[in-house]
Amino acid sequence: MFRRLLSYLIPIHVLQKNSSISKSIEVNWNNGQLVIDSKNTNYSYGSLQRILRIGLKKIGFETIQSMESILVLGVAGGSVIKTLVDEIKFKGKITGVEIDAAIIDIANSYFQLNQISNLSIIIEDAFEFVLKTKETYDLIIIDIFQDTEMPNFLFEKFFINRIGDILNNRGYILFNTMLLNEKQNLRNKAYIQEFNTKSYSIFTVPRIENHNELIIIQKL
Ligand SMILES: C[S@@+](CC[C@H](N)C(=O)[O-])C[C@H]1O[C@@H](n2cnc3c(N)ncnc32)[C@H](O)[C@@H]1O
Repeated sequence: MFRRLLSYLIPIHVLQKNSSISKSIEVNWNNGQLVIDSKNTNYSYGSLQRILRIGLKKIGFETIQSMESILVLGVAGGSVIKTLVDEIKFKGKITGVEIDAAIIDIANSYFQLNQISNLSIIIEDAFEFVLKTKETYDLIIIDIFQDTEMPNFLFEKFFINRIGDILNNRGYILFNTMLLNEKQNLRNKAYIQEFNTKSYSIFTVPRIENHNELIIIQKL
């Protein structure tokens, strides 16, 4: 309780682990909230949860409630999963894919992710998972970062096409991106162009919390 109150004044470190994927993983109290941060950015809860909630609101909480299956690529502490389950009351099946087993241990110990009955976690590279899966989904949330970096595969045609294949008709993609320079701005524009066909409708939510742009795509 004391640490929580003190964290309104200064961030309080609870745990720090080195990570080959994210350089470092930290659990911190920040502004009265327990969050996960990587070396240079917030990963779960905090601003990240606010950003994805804006995207889910745009899609519509009622639309999401009526869905059957959701895929979350990049789980970390699972804050978007908590929004889906606790706030939106989503009762369908959630599949979370995360490359870093250590961060799932933290999610289970500090955020009780393993108590969510409609969630299955798969420890795997999202690229491999998307390549192999035979399931299809009504909503695919892509939230993959290695600290502040986004792996190149996310923007490659092959991955984009596979995501399109495993998305159900009328389903949505919610893609969280970080824009720190003009090159990344052009990268996002090229990404959007890939979906600029009669089969999809696209809209973006730019400049959230300074550096993020959400890309929302619906399969028609
Ligand atoms: C910003 S965090 C995800 C936050 C989470 N969506 C939430 O709502 O709290 C990004 C995550 O992507 C994971 N990641 C990075 N590369 C990955 C990959 N190739 N496959 C799966 N997960 C990956 C990182 O380990 C990290 O946990």
